[in-house]
Amino acid sequence: MHPATETDPGPPADAADIGRVITLRVDGREHRLSVDPRRTVLDLLREQLGVFSAKKGCDHGQCGSCTVLIDGRRVLACLTLAVTCDGVEVTTAAGLAADGLLHPVQQAFLQHDAFQCGYCTPGQICSAVGLLDEFEAGAPSQVTVPVTATPDWTDAEIAERMSGNLCRCGAYPGIVSAIRETKGGS
Ligand code: FES
Repeated sequence: MHPATETDPGPPADAADIGRVITLRVDGREHRLSVDPRRTVLDLLREQLGVFSAKKGCDHGQCGSCTVLIDGRRVLACLTLAVTCDGVEVTTAAGLAADGLLHPVQQAFLQHDAFQCGYCTPGQICSAVGLLDEFEAGAPSQVTVPVTATPDWTDAEIAERMSGNLCRCGAYPGIVSAIRETKGGS
């Protein structure tokens, strides 16, 4: 550590006290805790709360393995600062099952063999749950033509809307068919 000088006064007296207190719910459990303003939701979950469902893949918002639902909308936990999440509800894939029953998307992933190693799967499942709500709301995607049309449940629509979630095992056909079935398709 450098000694304080006239030009380098050293760290401020309160340098160790930079935490901000937030309250949030994670998979139904309420937490009130102090977080470093630089900490992401992904690191908060994994390193501070011991919730390991969301995975750290690229840690750059490119692979989607950290996807969680915040107040029902899918987000990349590695790009979201925890300090911005005061008062929110975070749901990971592990929190989707209720009363010992799998969420329909989880069940469909099992039935359609929509994974191999499983590393990307929690993020894929959270993203798929968010996708269902976006579809229900009629939100267009890049491949919705015309953009004002009600989107159809085509494989192209599902693939486009899941394109932020990469799978190194290449389980994409099973992922698409699992999501199609969850919506009630064939
Ligand atoms: Fe292995 Fe997707 S199942 S990366």
